[in-house]
Amino acid sequence: MRLNVTVNGEARQADDVWEGESLLHVLRERLGLPGSKNACEQGECGSCTVYMDGTPVCSCLVAAGQAEGREVATVEGLADGDTLDRVQQSFVDAGAVQCGFCTPGLVVAAHDLLNRVPQPSDPEIREALAGNLCRCTGYEKILDAVRLAATR
Ligand code: FES
Ligand code: FES
Repeated sequence: MRLNVTVNGEARQADDVWEGESLLHVLRERLGLPGSKNACEQGECGSCTVYMDGTPVCSCLVAAGQAEGREVATVEGLADGDTLDRVQQSFVDAGAVQCGFCTPGLVVAAHDLLNRVPQPSDPEIREALAGNLCRCTGYEKILDAVRLAATR
């Protein structure tokens, strides 16, 4: 099937998409957007988190056909050209990126939190990021990054 989807503000099209294909696969393999990561492909880790119509979703659990006509924003779309979004920059500045596999999903989840709650408490940050697993950092630097982004 042919998929029509708006990605990061741009109308995109993918041909020969098969029925069981995930939105994550389309983004990474067909549309050249490898920011969203495939770590579990089971909805467990959050590494594939993107916005769909403004709501964060695990793109590995979204069938490509469900994205027809929708607006998707990936971690790539948060930056303004070469200028990182405040959440992206804060992850860098706080040293919250190690292997980086979890980072795109955490950045999208934190971005969504700060849109909804500009000055979140630590429990609110922990709750918002509870669906995003990191195997490297121990989470403290990630919390620091979100706290830093909230000040910017
Ligand atoms: S790759 Fe989608 S939740 Fe882990
Ligand atoms: S930085 Fe490696 S999984 Fe989070």
